[in-house]
This record gives sequence, structure tokens and C-alpha cells, in this order.
Amino acid sequence: MSFRIQPTPPARPNRCQLFGPGSRVALFEKMAASAADVINLDLEDSVAPSDKDTARANVIAATHEVDWGNKYLSVRINGLDTPYWYRDVVELLEQSSDRLDQILIPKVGCAADVYAVDALVTSVEAAMGRSKRISLEVIIESAAGIAHVEEIAASSPRLQAMSLGAADFAASMGMATTGIGGTQENYYMLRDGQQFWSDPWHWAQSAIVAACRTHGVLPVDGPFGDFSDDEGFRAQARRSATLGMVGKWAIHPRQVALANEVFTPSEEAVLEAREILAAMEAAKARGEGATVYRGRLVDIASIKQAEVIVRQAEMIAG
Ligand code: COA
Ligand code: MG
Repeated sequence: MSFRIQPTPPARPNRCQLFGPGSRVALFEKMAASAADVINLDLEDSVAPSDKDTARANVIAATHEVDWGNKYLSVRINGLDTPYWYRDVVELLEQSSDRLDQILIPKVGCAADVYAVDALVTSVEAAMGRSKRISLEVIIESAAGIAHVEEIAASSPRLQAMSLGAADFAASMGMATTGIGGTQENYYMLRDGQQFWSDPWHWAQSAIVAACRTHGVLPVDGPFGDFSDDEGFRAQARRSATLGMVGKWAIHPRQVALANEVFTPSEEAVLEAREILAAMEAAKARGEGATVYRGRLVDIASIKQAEVIVRQAEMIAG
């Protein structure tokens, strides 16, 4: 292993990020009352161009007026290719209450995009004497974003999380689909005349997880568009969790419980992890580095695997 220790990501639950358009004020109280760990008020693609100014004012007012409880409060600004983003940043930082935790930057294509937002945030924070440092999250949702994912993950000490945005990603990559996450009809292998579906999001997810884990950032799976398909959501979320992601977006309230279910380690998983740790403690006392647990090999690497699950469960419980 490299002599550098892998940095730990922020120790806060990020199992579900619930989105809502900044133009739909009536949703804000419902979002605040939800079981999502993170709230993303949107100024970007769920808000029509004619509503941009109103949505920004709504969101700023909501940082003062809505009781967000212990939720991590994040606002998605407009992309750096629009005429809106600088005003999003300046007005949010000049006028929001201290309740604002994070700015989510969409369509990030290179580290300099994050640098630009960081510079502006830093300047307005200093000018306003804001004592709370705003964190950043980015969405990887373009060919450039995934090509530069590692430099983006390393781009700013403010960066806490990185999400995969399946819809814009698919469009930018020229993928032949209108699906937002999940199984894609034409992405299959054929064996003895039978179709076996594979996962077209797998590579991008793994690239994001690797970049995030290298730099101590939380890797998050983005939207699953078909909010009537609970089993489809679960399957997508379970794959993401298996690959190392810590949570998933909800674009409809019914997806919140599903994300919390998948990204909270189950009692059985935690129990098994604790038993593996106990088996390894006993092995260590016997001077052994490897032993047998329920008919399978466990060794010193198993301790680290088990600790991932136990630590996650303890962090969520705390
Ligand atoms: N957060 C909290 N509550 C929400 C919600 C959200 N994002 N979306 C809908 N609700 C509420 C509705 O107000 C309704 O409440 P009620 O039972 O008190 O009347 C209930 O949940 C059921 O809503 P439903 O009628 O099924 O949905 P809708 O037609 O009002 O809205 C969407 C559907 C998809 C347009 C809406 O959920 C939405 O805007 N989602 C977020 C989109 C977004 O932010 N996209 C950007 C990221 S990809
Ligand atoms: Mg997008």
C-alpha cells in the first residue's frame, strides 16, 4: 500500500438526498418533515428559465423561515455554462441564513470549475463575515466530468460529496437511452438464446467511488427516474451500495424510505461483521492471521471489510 493513509470522508449520514424545485415552495415543509439526511433545493434543471429569480429568492427565504431540523441543507446552483450561477452563489452567500450547509454544483467538467466556485464562495463568505464554512458537492454528469473525475475529487478542501447524474451523463456520452438509471433494455449479453442484463452505469459509478475514496469524498448515486418502480430503485441502490456508494437521491418522497433501507447496514450485516471481528480477535490471540468463519476464509483484510459496515452503522446510529 502507498504510505499515504486513505483519508476518511465526512462522518455524516448521506443515505438519501431529497430534491425539490426551488420554484415549488409548497414542497419545502414536506421536504423538511421527510426522513432524508440531505435536502437539495434546486435552482437548476427543475426550474424553468422564467422562474430562476423567484426560485432563488424562495430558497433564500426558506433558509430563514423553514425549520430544517438536523438535515444537511444543500442548494443546487445553475451550471457554469449559464448566466445564472454567479448570482446564485453571491445571493445565497450574502442573504441565506447560517442554516445553509452546502452548495451543489452541477455538470462539473474539470477541477477549475470547482476552483471558480470556491473562489467566489470564499470571497463572499469573507466579505459577509460568515463564520460557517459552506461545503461543496459536485455532480459528475458529462463525458468531461468522468474523464477528469480524479482531479475533480481532489479539487477543493470544501468538497464533501460527489454524485453521478445519470440523465445528463447519458446524454453527454451519447448513450442510446432516455432512462434515468436502472436496467437498460438494450444492454444485455446473450447466452443460449437468453438475455442477461448488464449494468451500463457500473463503470462510471466505480470511477467515482475510486476517485472519492482516494480523496476522502462521499460517493453518491444520483436519480432513479421511474418513481413508480420501487423494486427497480432498490436493485439500482443495492448495486450502488455494493460498489461503495453511501447513498442515493430521491426525486419523489416515496424513494426516501427505499434509500434509507438500502444504505443503512442491516442488523444481520452488522451482526455478521461483529462476528467476523470477534473471530479475528480469537485468531490473533492464537497467533494466527487467518481463520475460518462459517466455512469460509477470513483474514486481516476481512477485519477492514467488517469495520466498514460496523463504522457505517455506528455513524448512522450516532
Ligand atoms: N419532496 C417532498 N414532497 C413531495 C415532493 C418532493 N420532491 N414531490 C412531491 N411531493 C409531495 C406532493 O406534494 C404530494 O403531497 P400531498 O400528498 O400532501 O399532496 C405527495 O408528495 C405526492 O406527490 P405526487 O402527486 O406523486 O407528485 P407531484 O406530481 O406533485 O410531483 C414530481 C412529482 C416528480 C414533479 C416532484 O416529485 C418533483 O418535483 N420532484 C423533484 C424533481 C427535482 O427536483 N428534480 C431535480 C433533480 S433530478
Ligand atoms: Mg443534471
